[in-house]
Amino acid sequence: MPSVVDIRNLSHHEGESVRVQGWVYNLRESGKLLFPIFRDGTGLVQGVVVKSAVPAEVFERVRSLTQETSVRVEGTVRADARAPGGFELQVSGVEAVQAVPVDAPYPITPKEHGIEFLMDHRHLWLRSSRQHAILGIRHEVIKAARDFFDDRSFTLVDAPIFTPAACEGTTTLFEVDYFDDKAYLTQSGQLYNEAAAAAVGKTYCFGPVFRAEKSKTRRHLTEFWMIEPEVAFAGLEDICKLGEELVAFVVDRVLSRRSRELETLERDPARLEPCRQTPFPRLVYDDAVKILQSKGSEIQWGGDLGGADETLLSQEFPKPVLVTHYPSQVKAFYMAPDPERPELALCVDMLAPEGHGEIIGGGVRLADYELLVKRIEENRLPRAAFEWYLDLRRYGAFPHAGFGMGIERVIGWICGLEHVRESIPFPRMLYRLTP
Ligand code: 4AD
Ligand code: MG
Repeated sequence: MPSVVDIRNLSHHEGESVRVQGWVYNLRESGKLLFPIFRDGTGLVQGVVVKSAVPAEVFERVRSLTQETSVRVEGTVRADARAPGGFELQVSGVEAVQAVPVDAPYPITPKEHGIEFLMDHRHLWLRSSRQHAILGIRHEVIKAARDFFDDRSFTLVDAPIFTPAACEGTTTLFEVDYFDDKAYLTQSGQLYNEAAAAAVGKTYCFGPVFRAEKSKTRRHLTEFWMIEPEVAFAGLEDICKLGEELVAFVVDRVLSRRSRELETLERDPARLEPCRQTPFPRLVYDDAVKILQSKGSEIQWGGDLGGADETLLSQEFPKPVLVTHYPSQVKAFYMAPDPERPELALCVDMLAPEGHGEIIGGGVRLADYELLVKRIEENRLPRAAFEWYLDLRRYGAFPHAGFGMGIERVIGWICGLEHVRESIPFPRMLYRLTP
């Protein structure tokens, strides 16, 4: 029996008889010829069946294949310049593993479907070429980000998902029953990263985080994945550099390893090309506000940048832009103040080009015990839940800084997606909890 070959490797088997296992993507009929297209997760291959060359029952069996029927196919690999991919499979036999019934066909057809229909069928929609390409790029982005930190001697230390208190403001907390108590789904692993940084120096965590975002924007998910480095004795400049190097590394990886996926997505690589190189442009918040006002934004000094502001600003630059030194009042309780201007935070947001919004948020952490206690009180956070965090300021307090990069926003930008919902296999949003 011929051995099973991945479609992506068929070119190494020219002239050989092979087996392919997968699904029927499409079927075209042209007189005495059948052109089924098979996919197996590694690629697509066009099959050819010549009526006169196979037993009548094989021809009929191929002819009756319905879309997404699972199959085992046998055939000979032939080079053919006209075939997509340069090779085709001269089919000699086919076995339907599960035939999709003619009267209950696969719901996603080549015709146009509305986004809600596709989202309801997300479990099937993932099989399409476009979603397949996004899955491949997601894999590459995650692998690249992990390699980046692993190669720089960061130790991965996982943070918990059930937590006793808020990290990023109390308005977006998901509360869950925890036996006779309450717990919250984590908004960020940062606080735990800070403990880990004191243990290993340079650390990162990578996992799902949760925000009860009531906003229905193209950038917000309620469950998303964040990679978060934290570095002992680092300052703002150190993590700005780390952030831009990370993003440049990820973009470089995708450009060099996933050009085919970008092509499937009709994403022009020239738009990403400049982002392979550091440094990225920098702006202080004061100047960002001036630029925005000159472009017609309503923003006043002291306010946070809105989604529209981020889009306006990002359109000024071909690369991601780093905005630093926001007013402390719009940032989280743990942000260290700028010693020169204490009303400002030593923080950084990185905004992706083309209006994809903030991809990185981070800064220097408050290392001072008294000031941190004051901030916890001002923010009406439950002091008891933060005692362990305060210990980090009681026992060998140290300057440190870090950031979080939202994986889906990065994928959305790199893939040029209209909405972040396509950048995660099964998106969770205000109005979507299924499939
Ligand atoms: O700016 P954020 O809220 O920062 C933190 O959580 C810090 N504690 C991270 C740290 O310093 N270790 O979130 C970080 C990033 C944002 O820049 C954005 O990319 C992404 O997470 N993000 C979201 N992505 C999708 N949907 C949402 N609702 C998001 N909220 C934040
Ligand atoms: Mg932020």
